[in-house]
Amino acid sequence: MVLKHISIAACLLLAACDGGQGEPTAYEDMNFTQRHAFMSEVVLPQMKELFVEFDATYENMSCATCHGDGASDGSFAMPSPQLPVIPASEEAFFEYLEDPEHARWGVFMGEKVWPEMADLLGVPAYDPKTAPDGFSCTNCHMVEGQL
Ligand code: HEC
Ligand code: HEC
Repeated sequence: MVLKHISIAACLLLAACDGGQGEPTAYEDMNFTQRHAFMSEVVLPQMKELFVEFDATYENMSCATCHGDGASDGSFAMPSPQLPVIPASEEAFFEYLEDPEHARWGVFMGEKVWPEMADLLGVPAYDPKTAPDGFSCTNCHMVEGQL
């Protein structure tokens, strides 16, 4: 187990493990315990780095920053109702982005957090044509009306 997680981390570091021997277990094939370890060893440290670059107050980023109450009740269910809720329609979303603070965050999310998270999970990022079920904002955030 431990070895496997080290190899996952090493693969991500070297970005050289697509195929061949020693292929790490894909996130989707991991059991809950493996996912927990992968989040602790790989996801949190990498995402913290991104967030701190954007805003130094994320130095204390934790599992709860993304998982909200799911981090304390142990479910780690996503999307998290404690994350900011984002508008449901495209129209409302663009209106929401007129607030410069939302826009600043939206750009950070769209350019950094979203693609990086999809990468870490080894899943395609949402694309209406090529990956309609791909990973998107709504894998983390609830949208209005969903709660
Ligand atoms: C940057 C945001 C982020 C952080 C930080 C984060 N996670 Fe996650 N985690 C996710 C996402 C997104 C998923 C769900 C992936 C998916 O859509 O299936 C997930 C899934 C999980 C799962 C699997 C849940 C299931 O139902 O299979 C576990 C367990 C987990 N995280 C534990 C942790 C732990 C422990 C930490 C802290 C060490 C942590 N996570 C930190 C984003 C995060
Ligand atoms: C891996 C999980 C994850 C993904 C994917 C993600 N976000 Fe976020 N988002 C977060 C976290 C964590 C925060 C910070 C929440 C906090 O500090 O309370 C955040 C904050 C925001 C904020 C700031 C809102 C506010 O009121 O301060 C906006 C806007 C936002 N996200 C939009 C988006 C959009 C748009 C996408 C898709 C392009 C997206 N997010 C994808 C986890 C995610």
